[in-house]
Amino acid sequence: MAQQNIYNNEVFFEGYKKIRDNKINANNLFEIPALFSMMPDLKDKKVLDLGCGFGEHCKRFIDCGAKKVVGIDISEKMLDIAGNENSDPNIVYINMPMEKIVELNEKFDVVVSSLALHYVEDFEELVNDIYNILYTEGVFIFSQENPLCTCHSGGNRWTRDEKGNKIHLNLADYGIEGERESVWFVDNVKKYHRTFSTIINTLINAGFTIEKMIEPLPTDKILEQYPDYKDLLHKPDFLLLKVRK
Ligand SMILES: C[S@@+](CC[C@H](N)C(=O)[O-])C[C@H]1O[C@@H](n2cnc3c(N)ncnc32)[C@H](O)[C@@H]1O
Repeated sequence: MAQQNIYNNEVFFEGYKKIRDNKINANNLFEIPALFSMMPDLKDKKVLDLGCGFGEHCKRFIDCGAKKVVGIDISEKMLDIAGNENSDPNIVYINMPMEKIVELNEKFDVVVSSLALHYVEDFEELVNDIYNILYTEGVFIFSQENPLCTCHSGGNRWTRDEKGNKIHLNLADYGIEGERESVWFVDNVKKYHRTFSTIINTLINAGFTIEKMIEPLPTDKILEQYPDYKDLLHKPDFLLLKVRK
């Protein structure tokens, strides 16, 4: 099935960019620190970034010593920013869906994907492809929306008190995997829900060894500064995994 290229939609793109331009966001506070805490020493390594977006991570991999970084993304609009703001002689940005990485015909020491895998329908095929393009002992590190978020399929996500404060999450349809349509800046944003066990077993069946799993939670210091993030104590927004070939 054809992939949705929602980040190329003008309204979606502008909305998403505004969130990322505001430096106090969940990516900067939780997801990115967790992702980089799992990175191996990148000195002289070849890194592939799946769904690289604005290329900020690609640039950081080079700053960490990587000798070559390939960033791929399905959205030309996202890659335009990557090329303008995060270019480097040792970074190659390629406009292609990650479902086609076998066509790269190249092997890597590290494959990374930050918040893009929940847009992929066939996780099993992608994980097998990633296994095959990694050198032996290579690592695959990724973040995605937490399955407690991707399962949502309509209705209110939260039960609230009479003042509108969130009391607890309404969890439904966790066990029903597959496509979800959500509203985020625009209607009909497609994502794919998979349970924790499907994600973990798909990685194991491909041949990977699980090394680390993180569901980032707010520290007391973050809660003091940004109390709204206490919601994450009910439901983490992100799931991160580090696996090795
Ligand atoms: C939430 S953004 C994350 C961007 C970047 N990884 C970061 O963390 O800043 C998700 C990115 O994945 C890209 N994407 C979604 N589906 C894709 C696919 N099938 N193949 C390649 N890129 C895809 C989108 O175009 C978008 O740039």
